Amino acid sequence: EKAGYAHFMLKEIHEQPKAYRDTMGSRIDAAGGKIIFNELKLTPEQIHKIDRVHIVACGTAYHAGLIGKNAIERLARIPVEIDVASEYRYRSPIITPQTLVIVVSQSGETADTLAALREAKRCGATVLAITNVVGSTVAREADDCIITWAGPEIAVASTKAYSSQLIAFYLFSLYLAQVKKTQSSEYITEVITALRALPEQVETILGQFEQIKNFAEEISTHSDLFFIGRGMDYAVAQEGSLKLKEISYIHSEAYAAGELKHGTLALIEEGVPVIALATQEDLFEKTVSNIKEVKARGANVLGISAEDEHEMIKSVDQHFAIPKTLGLLTPALSVIPLQLLAYYASLALGNDVDKPRNLAKSVTVE
Ligand code: M6R
Repeated sequence: EKAGYAHFMLKEIHEQPKAYRDTMGSRIDAAGGKIIFNELKLTPEQIHKIDRVHIVACGTAYHAGLIGKNAIERLARIPVEIDVASEYRYRSPIITPQTLVIVVSQSGETADTLAALREAKRCGATVLAITNVVGSTVAREADDCIITWAGPEIAVASTKAYSSQLIAFYLFSLYLAQVKKTQSSEYITEVITALRALPEQVETILGQFEQIKNFAEEISTHSDLFFIGRGMDYAVAQEGSLKLKEISYIHSEAYAAGELKHGTLALIEEGVPVIALATQEDLFEKTVSNIKEVKARGANVLGISAEDEHEMIKSVDQHFAIPKTLGLLTPALSVIPLQLLAYYASLALGNDVDKPRNLAKSVTVE
């Protein structure tokens, strides 16, 4: 059942190219120029009326939502708020019939997410679910549903569900942009072309696992480490940090790279591992200067960026290259080395990779 892999998590990491292809599936027209969402009841008239979007989820699904917020705002120019589900319900969010609430849940059974969904519906919002399980409670109770075709995810640490949630968000954001005409059809085609190249680019990254494995073994003896990045890299850093904590039990923190010097920089000393993401061209120089700040305090830095970023390569101890794609889509690539890092660190420590302590796959209590 593990198809020759040592753990479900490793199998699921390797299933991501397929999960990407299946989630895109028939939602892209044959010519690669248009998004089609036959399953949505949401009409173009309703879409034109949406004046705000709320994204609500827990854990890894929340981290996918952070990228979703970015994609919707950038492509469809609709303001997006995002909350973890256990906070959303208790802060009296402003929900109107023009609000689209997107709940994200791999299992479709998470109690907090379900409660947020019910609260949103009670307030008259339209609720769209992004879930991996057909017929789950979230799928049944939402007004509309986008299924991520990642296939069953067994390992407690979510990998392919997260990354296919990203694909679902990209597709839906492009669809909103198409309906609202907030982007030119040329640009939409450009993004679709880049989306279709992702599965093969993920394969390339998976082929370079040795480098991440070595770094994972190196950091497994440390008790604290940091992930830094700006913009979408910060969102991916949060996911990388959660993944590592969840299965390796090593304490880590994700920090917006520019925020470090407002306090946390005090924790950087000789040998502290820092994983720095710098995949966003417009933020690149700023992130590199933050990397120099931690290097100057003795940090051991693994840098993740495109292969031709020489300034970055010079500034870090080790560099992991990800293939070139559009800035908007880099999370679908840059998360892969972070999943591998968590996996190999957990393995090096002899932990139960697929069933970490204290955690359940589906959290059905609030
Ligand atoms: O099934 P869900 O997507 O609603 O689950 C949400 C979280 O419990 C889940 O993503 C959790 O954070 C993962 N174990 C992280 O790997």
